[in-house]
Order: sequence, then structure tokens, then C-alpha cells
Amino acid sequence: MNINLVTSNQGKVEELTAILRPFGHTVSQLPVKCPEIQAMTLEEVVDFGLTWLHGQKTPAPLIIDDAGVFVEKLQGFPGVYSRYVHDTIGPQGLLRQLEHIEDRQASFKCVLGLLLEDGTTHKFVGECKGRIIHEMRGDGGFGYDPIFIPDGFDRTFAELPPEEKNEISHRGRAMQNLLAFISEKGL
Ligand code: IMP
Repeated sequence: MNINLVTSNQGKVEELTAILRPFGHTVSQLPVKCPEIQAMTLEEVVDFGLTWLHGQKTPAPLIIDDAGVFVEKLQGFPGVYSRYVHDTIGPQGLLRQLEHIEDRQASFKCVLGLLLEDGTTHKFVGECKGRIIHEMRGDGGFGYDPIFIPDGFDRTFAELPPEEKNEISHRGRAMQNLLAFISEKGL
């Protein structure tokens, strides 16, 4: 089926398209500016977005994606504020916050929201655990990819080929759950 992707983030478009393509699904990017509420969880942001998009009669099926990086020693910061932190102090600024912190455990989380033509909404979650390194490494990916090494790897997300990131990433895992759901529904 053709799925509308509501995002202005080109990195997400590339990743989601590459994950969906082998399953015969096509993706169109919708240039709709979905308002983002200030919330404590990614799930709340996605719920609000789906309700808003449904209210606007945005063509379905559509997907929205909210993601963030959660640093354990910072009590999950930047988490749901990842975009704001990225656009203000950037990944380098986050590295400065962690300068004297030895325990660098962190995880990426992604919540995908799906709105179907019948008006029902569904959420799919994916997580990828790893650690924040001390410097930026790699040219691939986007956002915080150059400072994050997933567990079991010695390269950052930005150093991994896209297929490898998609296989283990928070977004890849959330999408596997979404794909299982739509195939079960025969969509
Ligand atoms: P949002 O989901 O668009 O609100 O993204 C939150 C922030 O996290 C943005 O700065 C993104 O660039 C960043 N981000 C989202 N997904 C990823 C990812 O897969 N890798 C690295 N950074 C990401």
C-alpha cells in the first residue's frame, strides 16, 4: 500500500522508505506541519499528532514518527526534548553535559503512530540500547547518530551502513512491529 509520511525530517523519510520498500509498500512524504505539544512522553506527542491529523482530514494511511535519545545518568534527558536540545546546543552540547560522567548508557526510542483509512489509530514502539561516546564519529545518518554506539557494536550509528542501522535501530524495531500489524490485518 502507499503510506503517507508526515515529517519534515529527510533522515526519517530515507530510513522509513528503505524499511518499507522490500515489503512492497511505497511512501509519500506529506508536507503537513503537525503541531508538537510539550509532553512528558513520546507516546503523548504521537497521540496528539494522530488526533490532530485525523481532525484535519489528512489522507490516510499515514505514519508519524517521534523519537529521542534518553541518557540514563541524566534521568532520561534529553528524551522527549531531543529535538529542542539538538536545535539549540546540538550533539556537541550534549557531549559537554556528559563531560565528567563515566556511565554513558543511553537508549534511543521511537514511537510510530499509524492512522488508517477507517480512522483507527495505532502505536508501535522500538528501542535501541547503547552508549554515548566522547566525540562525534561518522558522516552517515542524522541527529545524534555520530555520538551513539549501539550495544554489541564498536561503530556509531553514523558509521554504520543504513541497512545495518535500520536492522537494529529504535525506528527499525518500531517499524517491524508496525509491519507485523499491517500484514496480520492483510493491509
Ligand atoms: P523528532 O522525533 O523529530 O522530534 O526528533 C527528535 C530529535 O532526535 C531530532 O533532533 C532528531 O534529529 C533526533 N533523532 C530522531 N531520530 C534519530 C535517529 O534515528 N538518530 C539520531 N537522531 C535522531
